[in-house]
Amino acid sequence: MAVVGIIPAGGSGERLGADRPKAFVVCAGRPLLEWSLEVLDAVCERVIVAAPEGFDDGPDRVRGGDSRSASVRNALEGAPEATVAVVHDAARPLVTRDLVERCLAALEPGVDGAIAAAPMTDTVKEAAPDGRVLRTLDRRVLWQIQTPQVFRADVLRRALDRDAAALAAATDDAALVEELGGTVRVVEAPPENIKVTRSSDLRIAEALLC
Ligand code: CTP
Ligand code: MG
Repeated sequence: MAVVGIIPAGGSGERLGADRPKAFVVCAGRPLLEWSLEVLDAVCERVIVAAPEGFDDGPDRVRGGDSRSASVRNALEGAPEATVAVVHDAARPLVTRDLVERCLAALEPGVDGAIAAAPMTDTVKEAAPDGRVLRTLDRRVLWQIQTPQVFRADVLRRALDRDAAALAAATDDAALVEELGGTVRVVEAPPENIKVTRSSDLRIAEALLC
């Protein structure tokens, strides 16, 4: 079994609004990407990073694509030996080795993907475009999906074999695997596994990492 890590780090970080792409912004003393790289390196045989132009030089670096899933596809193409792919966003620096290992362990026979997720803590309602509440959803069966997302590499390759529009429409890779009819299961993540999107998230991540 060749477990290969894939880190999509090819975004510009528009919502963070820093002077460089988000994955290369310093967080608690090192570039955001380094936190995830260290954890994946400990668990995977090789880790491939999809990075923006100008940051994509060096071994195991590939150029990011026009969308997150296109970046994942570019990185996976660089790892033909992979039988299992551990996909993890550079934007989640608080990932732990334990969480990656629990996702790998959940990839039992018959399971194509195991994805980190947080149970909903807020009440969730569906609303019409005018703001009128239509109904209250049962949050006990709802999960907020994160990364890491671990897949059988052959299934992920097939799921990512789509045109640019389909890749851009997918908010995570698991959705593409689900569209193929693949079996995906959730793995509960610790509440600290936050995503850095805006500058307030960066400050929270720094506090948690220090
Ligand atoms: N990503 C990527 N390639 C893209 C877009 C995003 O590899 N074309 C990566 C980002 O680098 C990040 C992860 O996907 O690690 C999740 O994306 P997001 O948090 O949206 O990051 P950005 O796209 O960089 O941020 P923004 O949407 O604010 O521009
Ligand atoms: Mg984005």
